[in-house]
Amino acid sequence: MKIKINENFNNLSKNYLFSEINIRVKKYIENNPDKNIIRLGIGDVTLPLPKIVVDAIKKAADEMANQKTFRGYPPEYGYEFLKDSVRNYYGRKNIKINNEDIFISDGAKSDLGNIVDIFADNEIYIPNPVYPVYLDSNVMSGRNINYIEGNKENNFLPMPNGLDNNPKIIYLCSPNNPTGSLYNYDELKKWVDYAIKTESLIIYDNAYEAFIDGKYPHSIFEIEGAKTCAIEVSSLSKMAGFTGVRCGFTIIPTQLKSGDTKINDLWKRRQATKFNGVSYPVQRAAEAALSIDGEKECLKNINYYKNNAKLLADFFKSKGIYYTGGNNSPYIWLKCKEGYNSWEFFDYILNNASIVTTPGSGFGVFGEGYLRITAFNTLENTKLAIERLNKIL
Ligand code: MLT
Repeated sequence: MKIKINENFNNLSKNYLFSEINIRVKKYIENNPDKNIIRLGIGDVTLPLPKIVVDAIKKAADEMANQKTFRGYPPEYGYEFLKDSVRNYYGRKNIKINNEDIFISDGAKSDLGNIVDIFADNEIYIPNPVYPVYLDSNVMSGRNINYIEGNKENNFLPMPNGLDNNPKIIYLCSPNNPTGSLYNYDELKKWVDYAIKTESLIIYDNAYEAFIDGKYPHSIFEIEGAKTCAIEVSSLSKMAGFTGVRCGFTIIPTQLKSGDTKINDLWKRRQATKFNGVSYPVQRAAEAALSIDGEKECLKNINYYKNNAKLLADFFKSKGIYYTGGNNSPYIWLKCKEGYNSWEFFDYILNNASIVTTPGSGFGVFGEGYLRITAFNTLENTKLAIERLNKIL
């Protein structure tokens, strides 16, 4: 075949981070079939869906089985009933958004990966370490990428100090995946002010919002002016246990413009062409999860994971190991054992404790020397993991 391929793919690492981990774990299992593996690697939920969500799916499935209530293609940007539910969820946090700003999707990863379609060759600024999708999707599009370094000194919360005044696309993730650090109101305001001053755009990944306790922003739109410089990408994966159900939403305020062009219009055009919406039962499930009662049920599961996170964080603290996260986040980000790089430490823990983790370097060069552990497992497995780690750390 003499078809030209997208050469930018040659600039990606060979495998997507979590695919690479799966390959290594599969090999470990083949060589150690009797070991009881504890998976604290990918941030995948383990508790079953809340009852209110399951009831909504069943009811919607029954409607689809009836000639009178059957539905075909969903609206490209989501049913109004779900947009109402998203708007009310924000409203309960005193954040005002309109239905026209909301786009329902099959999850944050898709939207974060696809959003590059509507922008030309801008300068891209990506925190490092961070969720790998921002980097990979921009590498695929051949973009010019700059890193904003997260480190121990800035508590893995890089700020705009020192950045030039050119317009740029900036990705932020708070609570951060992988470090669990999160911006407070003052810090997020500095980013919003910087974006307004430099006519830049912030793409704000809010997937872990539901884990926030205390006085931290639940949305970038709590910050004055953000509607003129930010897009917010959210997910029900972690909030409602939807990793296998698939539903998320992206908020693009109609006020957000580049020149005279509304970014909201571009995304509408993009989605109408390349996306056919989320299935009716899943949208009903999301509506239920975001309702007042649904939020309460979801919070029970989140608190269960947060208890696991606290146990892990307390353990690392008792060992005198530097870490961030474990609070406001399902992730604990810890320093590797002296003399080990991230992948070596990953192998050390897998081989000696049969625990799967995620190497920090998989989230970027500045993650080297760190490791991420998730709280998404059972309480029993979390306790067992701590016992095993206690023997080897
Ligand atoms: C993670 O482990 O970082 C996430 O679960 C992956 C994802 O959300 O795609």
